Amino acid sequence: MTPTPAHDDLARVSGSAGPEEIAAAIAVLRAGGVVAFPTETVYGLGADALDAAAVRRVFELKGRPPTNPLIVHVSGEAMARRVAAHWPPEASRLAQAFWPGPLTLVLPKAAHVPPEVTAGGPTVALRCPDHRVTLALLDAFAHPLVGPSANPSGGVSPTTAEHVREAFEASRVYVLEGGPCRGGIESTVLDLTSSPPCILRPGPISAAQIAAVLGGPVAEHPLPGDVPASGAVARSPGLHPVHYAPRARAVLFERQHLADMLARTHRAVVITHSGLTVSPPHQIIRMPASAPGYAARLYAALREADALRPDLIAIERPPADDPLWRAILDRLTRATGGL
Ligand code: TXA
Ligand code: MG
Repeated sequence: MTPTPAHDDLARVSGSAGPEEIAAAIAVLRAGGVVAFPTETVYGLGADALDAAAVRRVFELKGRPPTNPLIVHVSGEAMARRVAAHWPPEASRLAQAFWPGPLTLVLPKAAHVPPEVTAGGPTVALRCPDHRVTLALLDAFAHPLVGPSANPSGGVSPTTAEHVREAFEASRVYVLEGGPCRGGIESTVLDLTSSPPCILRPGPISAAQIAAVLGGPVAEHPLPGDVPASGAVARSPGLHPVHYAPRARAVLFERQHLADMLARTHRAVVITHSGLTVSPPHQIIRMPASAPGYAARLYAALREADALRPDLIAIERPPADDPLWRAILDRLTRATGGL
């Protein structure tokens, strides 16, 4: 595990929140308020996970259905053990291998965790985020923090503090600055209460990486296009087929269909990772060709596309030949309406 930095170090990260901002954030949290915090994946909307009224405020702000449980952020394994009713050896091995980092573990919840956090369910999702500002916050606050992505429910996740400020009034959410998120897509969610363990949401940590640490099989939840409308989807309510969606109509396309599609569209914004070109009035947003680069840019690109107010956001279908590309494709499939 990365040691939590001393507060002095924080001041040296240019532009990022320092000790004064962290102290202010703690005062907000102690009063039952809401603080947006940076992580290596996306920004989270934080509140004291042990304060039911504060947790309800997060649901209200996001417009999130109370049936969709929240991830609880912890400073490390010691805090996680206080939130889970049972901490199996597999959880220890995974935490040692991947925390702080983008792996969320679903375990039986401890009795003192308010039912609001888990949508009344018997399990709780736990993760230790890899960002020095938020590790310092968790360390100093010494309580776990709920942290859904800091966007109105169903919308595009925020990867900068500015995205959060655009969505929420400053009087209702105190935003801790932490720079642009390095990873760009949300953590892998792994259910450790099923056998074999099952990935409920694909993300930066792959099934193969998890299986290598556990020394056993890991089940993978199918991508949205692969599943029937009912069934296992309800295991992770956040896996609704429409999610991460921009306001404009968005579609995925194969490059050979680009010309036809543009001929039928008044003004499209085309998001390409392979160097496609378009003529005005259509516009282009160029993405990195590597999966890590693409993931880090994805949500900012969807926001930029939306801001251009096109008739259509047309996203070139990325490859699905590597786990991170598959996680990206999962988000794009949901951003484009599910199928
Ligand atoms: O990277 C991330 O995970 C970000 C950052 C802020 O940490 N957080 C995030 O939270 O993506 P949110 O609320 O947008 O997504 C949480 C996901 C949802 O799909 C939710 O249904 C699932 O985790 N989840 C939460 N608790 C669960 C539980 N007890 N069982 C199954 N799924 C759960
Ligand atoms: Mg979210």
